[in-house]
Amino acid sequence: MKKGLFITFEGADGCGKTTQLKLAAEYLQEKGQSVLITREPGAKGLGEKLRDILLNYDGIVSDRCESFLFLADRAQHIDTIVLPAVDAGKIVLCDRHIDSTAAYQGYGRGQDLDQINSLNMIATNNRKPDLTIVFDIDADTSMQRVGEQKDRMESAGIEFFNRVRDGYLKIAQKEPDRVKVLDASKSIDEIHQDVIKLINSLLRVF
Ligand code: TMP
Repeated sequence: MKKGLFITFEGADGCGKTTQLKLAAEYLQEKGQSVLITREPGAKGLGEKLRDILLNYDGIVSDRCESFLFLADRAQHIDTIVLPAVDAGKIVLCDRHIDSTAAYQGYGRGQDLDQINSLNMIATNNRKPDLTIVFDIDADTSMQRVGEQKDRMESAGIEFFNRVRDGYLKIAQKEPDRVKVLDASKSIDEIHQDVIKLINSLLRVF
């Protein structure tokens, strides 16, 4: 049986990826594709509890603990939600995945990147996304869009978000076949057209 596809949407907070994911899902559903929308951290069940800790816990969270909590959520998500759906032939659109941990915990927090990459591969059983779209915006715009009400991660400051953005661009340079960068300062519709082009070129070779 033909398997499905796994596409991830990435970028700094406020980059517009969630809006674009929903538009892409509508587009694919109109084309008759079977689509699953999901996210990390916290798709459902145990993941939702981990998300609450990761975004709202107000005590001390060590950087290594933070990485492991995101990775724990990922292992549960890939095993119980993503891979079963891909195996059933669905197109899975996922809001954040392995590259968030590399960008935020690796480049942002300064955790060892080789270790993060190895742990990511353990958490996912070595299954990388078929396509990853990075929505690129500068850190000032990112912070402006997030606004005053910030969660634990969003409170990390402008320097942190500069490193996160830089990290995403480096990841894309290292894996140009899988990771594509779009200019997220364009209009919602222009970005949507860019997303559709990327997804359609993947569907053609699928
Ligand atoms: P979001 O759902 O609004 O994108 O928020 C999730 C937050 O968690 C966001 O600030 C990015 C952060 N995050 C990491 O730091 N590492 C990860 O591995 C993931 C999946 C998210």
